[in-house]
Amino acid sequence: MATSFLASLFFTLWALLISPAISLTCSSQKFTKNQVYSNCLDLPSLASYLHFTYDPSNTTLSVAFISTPSKPGGWISWAINPNATGMAGSQALVAYKNSTTGVAVVHTFDISSYSSIVPKDLSFEVPDKTAETRSDGSLAIFATIKVPANLAAKGTINQVWQVGPGVGEGGMLERHDFAAANLRSKGTLDLKNGQSSTNSGGDTTIKKKNIHGILNTVSWGILFPLGAMIARYIRSFESADPAWFYLHVFCQISAYAIGVAGWGTGLKLGSESSGITYSGHRYIGIALFVLATVQVFLKFVYMQYLS
Ligand code: HEM
Ligand SMILES: *[C@@H]1O[C@H](CO)[C@@H](O)[C@H](O)[C@H]1NC(C)=O
Ligand SMILES: *[C@@H]1O[C@H](CO)[C@@H](O)[C@H](O)[C@H]1NC(C)=O
Ligand SMILES: *[C@@H]1O[C@H](CO)[C@@H](O)[C@H](O)[C@H]1NC(C)=O
Repeated sequence: MATSFLASLFFTLWALLISPAISLTCSSQKFTKNQVYSNCLDLPSLASYLHFTYDPSNTTLSVAFISTPSKPGGWISWAINPNATGMAGSQALVAYKNSTTGVAVVHTFDISSYSSIVPKDLSFEVPDKTAETRSDGSLAIFATIKVPANLAAKGTINQVWQVGPGVGEGGMLERHDFAAANLRSKGTLDLKNGQSSTNSGGDTTIKKKNIHGILNTVSWGILFPLGAMIARYIRSFESADPAWFYLHVFCQISAYAIGVAGWGTGLKLGSESSGITYSGHRYIGIALFVLATVQVFLKFVYMQYLS
């Protein structure tokens, strides 16, 4: 009884974990001019992606931000908030498709408060900025930013992103939704970690993510359920005795061992992640692991009793 409860709990938690583990969206995104960036992040809300390269020698940050307006004809925005977190105080790059010309344009906005969003040059240099429409209906903002010395010294910047439904006649932005995803679209961007993962190649993180995903899928997705099913169903055939037990133990022990490896790569990935913490995923992963450990431990105690 306890086992099947734990098994179904595992299934639920596993389903919650699997989606981010196998979605490697930003790493498969290509650009029309074949621009290459050292790092990419699947931002945690609004289906948005940030590709970036940071050069500490001249504190130059090149970014490509990809997102989809909440309605066709709407806007996307990526911003740095130099002195605070959240929208107020942000220095924003905003892109939209000009409805008359059909060409994607990017403008800069100074967001000094929730009610003051004015087209204006930013508080730092933006030597280069362009926008483009992508074949799937998303937009991309490309920009080169000279990171101010005080932010460069800190090594992390506060980033904010957003999508909106439309743009008025004079280029006035229509306000975005206030759904949970729209209020969560902020975080820190770790310039230095971004830099260090350049040296080992942007691909190593992807490779580790794949290993993490595969190990956990084999462990939680295949071996644990298989072991549980063997105990539950095969055991009822008399001819399968005692083979079912050895099979079951084999499955559970290898599942646990592979799970430990998957968990380890996950923790390593978390510590290396450049700027974004997927806390939900992290806590679920840790909880799942603790539960599995308790279960394995209880089994040993139980087997002591039997013998
Ligand atoms: C017409 C333009 C805009 C208006 C009227 C507007 C208004 C607001 C308001 C009133 C809130 C607070 C909502 C709440 O707490 O319930 C908010 C939140 C937010 N806005 Fe905007 N906004 C606009 C444009 C932008 C742009 C261009 C960005 C892009 C950087 C942005 C990013 C955010 C983010 C990330 C939040 C959630 C975090 C926070 O509360 O600071 N907004 N917006
Ligand atoms: C910063 O340095 C990199 C390479 O060292 C160079 O490609 C880039 O053009 C420089 N950017 C600026 C704004 O000086
Ligand atoms: C942020 O703070 C610095 C130093 O206090 C100030 O010079 C700068 O103007 C501020 N930036 C914005 C956008 O308010
Ligand atoms: C779109 O482009 C036209 C022609 O260049 C310009 O007059 C108009 O202001 C632009 N509209 C917006 C919303 O930027």
